[in-house]
Amino acid sequence: MIQAVSARAYANIALVKYWGKRESQINSPATPSISLALEALRTETRVERVEGGSDHVMLDGSPADDRTRTRISAYLDLWRELDLLEGAFSVTSANSFPTAAGLASSASGFAALATALAALAKRKINRRELSRLARRGSGSAARSIPGGFAALPAGEDPSAIRICKPEQIPWGMVVAVVDAPLKEIGSTEGMTRSKLSSPYFNAWVRTARHDYRKMRKALCAFDLDQVGAITEANAFAMHACMLATRPSLVYWSRTTLDLVQKVRLWRVDGLHAYATIDAGAHVVFLCPREEMGEVAELAGAVEGVRMAFPSLPAPGARVIGWS
Ligand code: DP6
Repeated sequence: MIQAVSARAYANIALVKYWGKRESQINSPATPSISLALEALRTETRVERVEGGSDHVMLDGSPADDRTRTRISAYLDLWRELDLLEGAFSVTSANSFPTAAGLASSASGFAALATALAALAKRKINRRELSRLARRGSGSAARSIPGGFAALPAGEDPSAIRICKPEQIPWGMVVAVVDAPLKEIGSTEGMTRSKLSSPYFNAWVRTARHDYRKMRKALCAFDLDQVGAITEANAFAMHACMLATRPSLVYWSRTTLDLVQKVRLWRVDGLHAYATIDAGAHVVFLCPREEMGEVAELAGAVEGVRMAFPSLPAPGARVIGWS
């Protein structure tokens, strides 16, 4: 019997966002989403069978905090309840990027964990099922299973499919990490609040469905101007829904707004960069591969930006070792 498995996965940034749950029991998204996986945002996770009744979780070299440990243990319970696994596990995970910075670590984290668990499971699990299982840990993790450009529909129990391999994508992203206090309301809680109280929630869901259809066409044509325009409009629509949530979800800082205004000027100057923002203050730019260096330099020079780094598209999650 295999005793330990290591897996690698990459976080992804959505061009059409997932914000809101259709069904929270099995974490089904209310909005369809499309993302790009990023090489620079890598997680490696080792899962080992252990004696005794309790699971152990180490994150970036230290024991995980209570919230993270409870979330991961609940996720292992799910696999045990589905009779895919038995016994207790030790989970050791490391990110190539600062976890505390509020970058998309739950996407790569749960994708790497699910991939390692699948290799230890009692029966074979195919990629579609693996993506569904990753989604149960975190919705965005479903998209890190296929990698590249991935689409996650908003069905009953959806799985993500890859719509373009990383090496076929002529674009990359620049991640601008903004100096900001740690976000107060995480995505899971924020989505629940928006659904309950944002007067714009239903309009947001309709907008996301429309953007998803338009985005799939624009991606097939590799039409960057169109892809970029939908990306920005979709992120702003999600943030409008967040802002209208009661009490309000304000994830932006002054630097976020500054970057959003700057990217328009960079476009006037001939660059082809487009901004998107998740549930935090950081800004991520989509641009042609050959413009990544210049965009990173420009973004890094903006006051309040802690660092700005480029990233090429990444492949899907995979097992990297076992014993
Ligand atoms: C704004 O996948 O973190 O980044 O399913 O509750 O774990 P849970 O949420 P999560 O939400 C991601 C929200 C987002 C948009 C996106 O990545 O699509």
